[in-house]
Formats: sequence, structure tokens, C-alpha cells
Amino acid sequence: MYRATNRLFILLLLLITAACSDPASAPENVNESLVGAGVETALQEPVAGAMASQEISGPVIVYSSRQEHLIKPLFDRFTEETGIEVQYQTGEDGPLIARLQAEGKQTFADVLYTVDAGNLWSAAEKGLLAPIRSVVLEKNIPSHLRDPQNRWFGLSVRARTIAYSTERVDPASLSTYEALADEQWRGRLCLRTSRKVYNMSLVATMIERLGKEATQEIVEGWVDNLATRVFSSDALLIEAIAAGQCDVGLVNTYYLGQLQSENPDIPVALFWANQQSSGVHVNISGAGVTQYAKNPLAAQRLLEWLSTEEPQTMFSALNLEYPANPAIEPVDLVASWGEFRQDSLNVEIAGRLQAEAVMLMDRADYR
Ligand SMILES: [Fe+2]
Repeated sequence: MYRATNRLFILLLLLITAACSDPASAPENVNESLVGAGVETALQEPVAGAMASQEISGPVIVYSSRQEHLIKPLFDRFTEETGIEVQYQTGEDGPLIARLQAEGKQTFADVLYTVDAGNLWSAAEKGLLAPIRSVVLEKNIPSHLRDPQNRWFGLSVRARTIAYSTERVDPASLSTYEALADEQWRGRLCLRTSRKVYNMSLVATMIERLGKEATQEIVEGWVDNLATRVFSSDALLIEAIAAGQCDVGLVNTYYLGQLQSENPDIPVALFWANQQSSGVHVNISGAGVTQYAKNPLAAQRLLEWLSTEEPQTMFSALNLEYPANPAIEPVDLVASWGEFRQDSLNVEIAGRLQAEAVMLMDRADYR
């Protein structure tokens, strides 16, 4: 109680200071921290019942690179269930991590929530996330979807696999990511830009499994097979397959889900890659408790709750992703794509080999 009251008081003081001073001269990190949903709601009274009756109280402050419509329903349910208020600030991954670093011990953030293990790895490497021991998270989240040092945990799974034209491709002709470098796909492949972290992560896992030389040969083969320029989004890529510009491509499955929700007859389907070898490449959205969290117990409670049944189902419903907790079924549309075997390499490899992957894609002339 003392701690929550104290935090509200500090936030209020900072707000008054910011309001009274020239914005240009205010410390950038503090000033920016006061903008947006997170801090606007910081001045609301915490839920009195929970504060009085529970040992762990709010608010928990989350820096999130996930958009508001994907996180707010989850946080609202958490608050309903536990009485712990959640405040959040959304932004792009890079700037959020940079802000956390610049704020250091002064940060308001208790939780960093991002997409892509590469981002979480990078935050952990910078010392921004604290290791936590949680029986609940260790039980609910498979070991390949969390940091071996317990500084971050996957909460939803994003599968990146092959999308193909149901009009021009016999799925029996498909097998692996590697085989998309074969000559039969000359002029038929669509790829999103290599600048997107999703492709960096996929290539990082290939480097880990196949080595640099073999991976570069494959990526060069992809580039040789391109039907068109690279795309800026997976959705545009899927639409290009539907429109006949190319026949196959690599996509995160939820993008097809979004398009299927609008048009169930879109002539594009998913093929689960590498089922006889490494498994489908997966990445995560995930979170960690920050190194200088003012409310680490409530932060940990939020993470633990997010790994349980209802929020896990909500992840699947809100963005058509897969629950990270393997005991929970995805929603019907996602389940309709069938089951698949995931790559069991720890997703931290996406971070550890990201720079290597970027250089390799450059050398292969994949832009
Ligand atoms: Fe995405």
C-alpha cells in the first residue's frame, strides 16, 4: 500500500513539474513517460478492494510494443480477476527498449512486453530484464519458448511457414524452407523484405542448424527464384499470391487468418514446412519483468496469469496466434489449419544470431 501510494505521489509530482516547465527543457525520458495511456491512468485511484485485501497490489506498468487493441482486453480481464490495475505505454520495439535503457533506475516500467524473441534477447543482454523464478511459468511455457536464464517468457506463438496458391500449386510439391531455393520455384516465389525481423529470425535458426555456408546458398536460391520485388508486409505478399503474381511465399500464419476472416474463399493455403526435419519456425510475443521494476511481484503475477487458460485463448482469438501454453487449444479458425510440429530450438537464437543473419542476407543480395 505504502509503495503504491508513494508511486502515485511521485507520478503526480512529475506531472505538475512537466506542466509547469518548458517542454523543450524537460528531461526527455520523464516527459515522454507522461504521455499516453499508461500515465494518464496513473492518477486514477487503484481498485480499493484489492488494495485492502491482497498482499500484491497494483498498478503494474507495462511498456508494450503490442498494439493497444491486442493488450487492453487481456489487462482488463487481469484487473477484473485480481484487482491489480495495469497501466501501459505502447510504442515500437527499438524506441521502447532504448527508453527503458535511458531511464535506468528511474523507469516506471515493471514489465516489457514485445514481439519477437530477438527483441527480448536484446533487452536481456542490455541488463534491462530481471531473472525470475516462477513454478507457474516454468510449467505453462515450454522451455524452448523462454529465456534459459528466466529473464523473459513467451506468451503467444507465431508460426512462420509456407503459403501457397491453391489454384497453381500442388501441396505435394512442397516440403521445406530450404526447397524453396530449388529451380522448380524460379520466378514463382514471393518474399517479404529481409529488413523485417521475422525473416532475420528464420534465417538465424537456419544458420544455427545448417551452418553459414549452406544457409547462404539457400538464401541465394530464394533470391534467384523471386517473382517480384520484396514486399513490405506479409498481408501484401499473400494478396500477391491470390492475385497470381507468385505461387508461394513465407508468412506468419495470423496474416492469412486475418485475410480469411474477411474473405474465407481467398485461394491461398498454409503448408507446414520441415515436418520431416527441423519443424516449423516459430517465434513469440513475450514479456519479462524489468530490472528496476518498482512492483516486481505484481509484474510476475501478471506474467503468470497471462500463461493460464483464459488469456492464452484470448491471444489466439485477438490476433489468431497460437497459445504458448501447449495445454490450451487455439480458436477454431487457427485450429482449422491443422496441427504441426514446431522447431524446438530455443527462440533466443533469433537474437543471438540476428546480426549474423542480417549480414548473410546482405551477402546473398536479399534486400
Ligand atoms: Fe506481424
